[in-house]
Amino acid sequence: MEKSYLKDVYDGGTNDSRELYASWAATYDKEVKKNGYVTPQRVAKALRDFVTNQSDFILDYGCGTGLSGHALQAVGFENIDGLDVSQEMVSLAEEKSIYKNLRVFDPFTEIPVHSDQYKIITAIGVIGAGAAPLQVFDSLFSLLPQNGLFAFSFNDHTLNDPNYEKKVEKYLGNGHATILHKSYGNHLPKANLKSNIYILKKL
Ligand SMILES: C[S@@+](CC[C@H](N)C(=O)[O-])C[C@H]1O[C@@H](n2cnc3c(N)ncnc32)[C@H](O)[C@@H]1O
Repeated sequence: MEKSYLKDVYDGGTNDSRELYASWAATYDKEVKKNGYVTPQRVAKALRDFVTNQSDFILDYGCGTGLSGHALQAVGFENIDGLDVSQEMVSLAEEKSIYKNLRVFDPFTEIPVHSDQYKIITAIGVIGAGAAPLQVFDSLFSLLPQNGLFAFSFNDHTLNDPNYEKKVEKYLGNGHATILHKSYGNHLPKANLKSNIYILKKL
């Protein structure tokens, strides 16, 4: 029987998940699809309503094997770049020919993107338990121009740690962002997991 990584991923912390994703890459799509993974479609549909020009470049941060990019493309986004820390995940994304540019970087170095390069950044299934640490939220937000959009999700495991929601509240409270969308819904329904999805606009 194939190993289920969904059992391991949320115990893994957020320091360096590269080994986990290297092992999971080959069966990732199959396992998450089997569990009804739907957060990418939810984020993509919500984002579409706030973007007037669907040819604006999007950075799909933590693109993995490309399921998030696929969902963005399916609702009409034309120019999507992918960035991730796992070569194994990105190699599979490459085969799907969704992304205009795909890059792998070392999570212990700076994100290889310059300020204002993207008006839209997504981090779908990326920040929180089993993947990227909360500081990534600040780094990504700082890369956006004024009026830029940040679309991301926190799953139930991540929401169990109040620091993640507090981070969002902080940006809203100090006037650095306004919230265009927030909804709670299915994440991996067959694994009984839900997620919050958010779209913030930088003020
Ligand atoms: C659960 S997968 C989600 C992938 C894709 N967005 C999707 O919706 O299928 C999490 C991804 O985050 C990546 N990741 C983990 N830590 C990261 C970090 N610090 N920066 C960027 N990506 C990271 C992993 O390599 C993995 O591809």
